[in-house]
Amino acid sequence: MARGCALGPDGFLTAGRPAYLITGASGFLGRHILQSLRKNAPEARLLVLVRDAESWESQDWRQGLGEVEVVIGQLFPADSWRSDPRLAHLDGIFHLAAEVKHTRSDTGDMVRTNVEGTLSMVRLAAEKQCRLLFVSSSGTVSCSPRPGQGVGEDAPYREDVVGDWPYYASKIRAEKEARRLARESGVELVIFRPPVLLGPEDHRYRSTSNVLRVLRRRLPFIIHGGMHFVDVRDAADAMVRAMQHPNAQPVYHLAGTASTLDEFFRMVAERASLKPSWITLPGWLLRHAARLNEISGRRLHILPDPVVVEMAAHYWDLGSRHAEADLGYRSRPPEETIADTVAWMRSNHPDLKPPQEIYRASEKTA
Ligand SMILES: NC(=O)c1ccc[n+]([C@@H]2O[C@H](COP(=O)([O-])OP(=O)(O)OC[C@H]3O[C@@H](n4cnc5c(N)ncnc54)[C@H](OP(=O)(O)O)[C@@H]3O)[C@@H](O)[C@H]2O)c1
Repeated sequence: MARGCALGPDGFLTAGRPAYLITGASGFLGRHILQSLRKNAPEARLLVLVRDAESWESQDWRQGLGEVEVVIGQLFPADSWRSDPRLAHLDGIFHLAAEVKHTRSDTGDMVRTNVEGTLSMVRLAAEKQCRLLFVSSSGTVSCSPRPGQGVGEDAPYREDVVGDWPYYASKIRAEKEARRLARESGVELVIFRPPVLLGPEDHRYRSTSNVLRVLRRRLPFIIHGGMHFVDVRDAADAMVRAMQHPNAQPVYHLAGTASTLDEFFRMVAERASLKPSWITLPGWLLRHAARLNEISGRRLHILPDPVVVEMAAHYWDLGSRHAEADLGYRSRPPEETIADTVAWMRSNHPDLKPPQEIYRASEKTA
């Protein structure tokens, strides 16, 4: 069968309709990739790999997406679903699925998911002869103990800085092993390294948890360190354009807004019309307190995991060399991203909704 032609689920030829498989579709970035694909590739068939059908069906936001085909299965092994006839022809795989835990405790499953899951997608792309777009993280190359210049796509991995933080170490391993396997198996691999993603519709409140902390007034202290964020909508559009680009680069950085932690939290507080109320502690003090807390079985919930404190004391200066020219990527003004994140949280998070709206929502579900 010619490339670009395949039998659709209804038995008809789907000639010329691009087909994309998306892993991690139920997450924050996945939601925006689906929306961007609907907007920028309205004719495309969208297939999502989902490990829990019930959880996917329960996401009410997916109803606005039109037809999305659901493939049930794990990232690896892929044997139970890779020969599903709906996947007979694929033009590309967006591999976003990953576990994100900033801790050194109990990380075996996360490392396996992030490394083996990515290699499994390289093998699938080799079998389907399609492009693989893998979302890694800016932390693989941009993290540094001091503020610096934005590093480019050819910067060396910073294992010396992030090697003891299992999430970033797993992304470095995933990138290295995926590149080797892609080279050996002739897969066109495109790696994206975004910094922190902010914006509306983070229905799991993970990526945007720092904004939520300000809104719930649960930010008693910070330390000196840096922050770098980009709008999830700009990131998703750039990724979709990279998938459609005839000659995509092997690596794209998405530079956004870099600031100190204090500047970032002040920006959020200002947009939310709240008075900044945190104090800045010496980094060494919080690091020791977090480590002692860890040793004593995390008795004080107010103290973060030691890895979170160590990360907060660092800077994430990322530069993009290709995304602007190749993909028309532009990072929108940071104020707009923060304002939209705050507005969405205030009308959706159960702790922030006005009481009458919670009452109405509970009436609906009763
Ligand atoms: N958010 C950020 O600030 C940021 C920054 C840089 C890079 N990234 C990268 O961007 C990607 C998407 O992040 P996100 O913010 O959208 O994360 P998210 O909201 O936490 O979503 C994670 C997604 O991965 C899936 N997943 C997790 N563990 C899995 C497993 N063992 N097997 C199969 N699927 C699994 C989840 O599916 P379930 O519904 O089944 O749980 C969900 O769809 C990740 O690769 C992340 O590392 C994110």
